[in-house]
Amino acid sequence: MKNILVVGAVGQIGSELTLELRKVYGNDNVVATGRKTKPSEKLLNSGHFEYFDVTNRDDLYSVCKKYNIDAIVNMAAILSGVGEQNPMLAWNVNMEGLINTLEVAREMKMKQVMIPSSIAVFGPGTPLDCAPQETVLKPTTMYGITKVSGELMADYYVNKYGLDVRGLRYPGIISHETLPGGGTTDYAVAIYFEAVKNKKYTCFVKEDTRLPMMYMPDCLKATIDLMQADFSKLKHHSDFNVGAMSFSVTEMAESIRKFIPDFEISYEPDFRQAIADSWPDSVDDAAAREEWGWKPAYNLDAMTEDMLKAIQEKHDKGLI
Ligand code: SER
Repeated sequence: MKNILVVGAVGQIGSELTLELRKVYGNDNVVATGRKTKPSEKLLNSGHFEYFDVTNRDDLYSVCKKYNIDAIVNMAAILSGVGEQNPMLAWNVNMEGLINTLEVAREMKMKQVMIPSSIAVFGPGTPLDCAPQETVLKPTTMYGITKVSGELMADYYVNKYGLDVRGLRYPGIISHETLPGGGTTDYAVAIYFEAVKNKKYTCFVKEDTRLPMMYMPDCLKATIDLMQADFSKLKHHSDFNVGAMSFSVTEMAESIRKFIPDFEISYEPDFRQAIADSWPDSVDDAAAREEWGWKPAYNLDAMTEDMLKAIQEKHDKGLI
């Protein structure tokens, strides 16, 4: 790959992934794009940046032509929580963004397309404990429906057109650089920020809610490792389960108390509880381990220590 376009580069994963890709492929070879949110100085000053809306195919095509793009990483999506408030918005953004990405990549004979999926593909009928790679996919959210459709579309483009399309089912991603927006797993990020700022947090899911989660360094590694895997050796393409850790909210609070002993937590579950309950506690990622050597590095306490340190530094500087 010579020139990579990152769509959704101002989002939670996109903002850090773009910088990491620039380290690997060179600053000038990774073009960041966003729809309207202002990018950080770091993102803006380290390479090209373009504003456009991925639901407009002509604009996507023009940007790809301008920079001679041969790989697209599409991180733009409306997540599960916001998607349930506005299902048609989620359908339009996620599906039009997806089809435009695949079509432009096909027309321009690109070398690779990376389209992330999510644990939101699971739902009633999926075993909740260690969800298998191949299992029932009947999500109850519009976000999940678009992700199952995305996996099927990706496989269609692989089989019908020989396009190299890859993707993984991200668990909840925890990070301290850019806040997630509108997901069900957002509580697992907010809890750390509130612990540093106020020493207390009111959680929107119950204490025994347990979901698969991953720390950002592992998320970046998983994404880039899959991008660099030998395509001819992959049996799966766009639907890899990737596990890292799995814990309840109570266990998170206990982990935080090892560093902030007087941290307090209370619970006010809202509509996102039903979404969380429809997703598995953990996933079986044997296919990712076997096909491209996936191995996570962080556990809960290692992540907690790192998160609290980074957020405390921002707090001390008055940035949050
Ligand atoms: N983090 C996402 C959400 O909660 C799941 O992929 O919607």
